[in-house]
Amino acid sequence: MSASISTPLRPHAEDAYADELAALAAADERPRPARWRLSPHAVATYLLGGTLPDGTVISPKYVGPRRVVEVAITTLATDRALLLLGVPGTAKTWVSEHLAAAISGDSTLLVQGTAGTAEEAVRYGWNYARLLAEGPSREALVPSPVLRAMADGKTARVEELTRIPADVQDSLITILSEKTLPIPELGEEVQAVRGFNLIATANDRDRGVNDLSSALRRRFNTVVLPLPASLDDEVAIVARRVEELGRSLELPQLPSGVAEIRRVVTVFRELRDGVTDDGRTKVKSPSGTLSTAEAISVVTNGLALAAHFGDGVLRPADVAAGITGAVVRDPATDRQIWREYLESVVRERDDWKDFYRSCREHV
Ligand SMILES: Nc1ncnc2c1ncn2[C@@H]1O[C@H](COP(=O)(O)OP(=O)(O)OP(=O)(O)O)[C@@H](O)[C@H]1O
Ligand SMILES: [Mg+2]
Repeated sequence: MSASISTPLRPHAEDAYADELAALAAADERPRPARWRLSPHAVATYLLGGTLPDGTVISPKYVGPRRVVEVAITTLATDRALLLLGVPGTAKTWVSEHLAAAISGDSTLLVQGTAGTAEEAVRYGWNYARLLAEGPSREALVPSPVLRAMADGKTARVEELTRIPADVQDSLITILSEKTLPIPELGEEVQAVRGFNLIATANDRDRGVNDLSSALRRRFNTVVLPLPASLDDEVAIVARRVEELGRSLELPQLPSGVAEIRRVVTVFRELRDGVTDDGRTKVKSPSGTLSTAEAISVVTNGLALAAHFGDGVLRPADVAAGITGAVVRDPATDRQIWREYLESVVRERDDWKDFYRSCREHV
């Protein structure tokens, strides 16, 4: 897509990767479930990346265990819905968007769950002007994204399911078990057509906000997205996303700052795991989540600093402020934890001197 002034800041997955999706569909000879744009196998290739027989390269969107992706896709071809669970920043939203794009060609049928999500957002609402003028009718009905997905046989998405109040969550039970949504005001119902399914995401740090009722939980297959298994995996994820984001923000191309990215990811992993990479030194974990997503944003901000105010090379000084901000969330406790980590771990590393000095300036 060529960038013009009206290019959306963040195109939907089905638009950003339209070429890859078209190439996959053209090469796909396996059976497709009703209304699916691709076979389950091709959806997996779209998510995990690969090379098609004609040489087209499909970029990996998700880096993680293949089995996790296969189970998620298979679930969506059954009559059970999919719940993606995991700690913050494990790509739950990202995977859900790409699954909907690959399966239905449409990732926009989305309900954003919050404490204020009302039943209308999950079922339907009314255009009150028409309702008052004409009485209840199909024309006065405002369908929710879920209702539209049911009618069109597409994938609906519900983000942050556990933030939604329990009684509103429960309105999903009939939809998921009976595959129908009664509209008593009209004396009719909308029956889901084949191809309909639903992907919900929930963050297991927020647990307790509103637990899923067991009745609802039974309608879902739960797939837990893990944190990146190794340092190398996580560095690869961050490097790829940073490059993509840099391109869409039109940052000048910089020589790759892989060494600096590796350092940021190492710091995040050590603080998250409570122990240094070599397993020798215990460290305390700060209160923040230090997710992969945050590492991506620290590095992207660093690149912007280097591009606009530095010498065009990503240096320790460019990431120091960002990393301090990510680690020190609660000034009372995290600042001390960060200082201890700087003194006992960072300072001792020979090739980390510049990084140590830059970080010291911010605490
Ligand atoms: N394993 C991974 N593979 C590819 N990208 C990843 C991976 N883990 C994290 N990311 C990247 O991290 C970013 C954030 O992911 P996303 O917002 O989907 O997380 P989330 O699990 O929904 O977090 P939250 O619980 O805060 O909503 C995305 O840009 C995604 O590309
Ligand atoms: Mg999310």
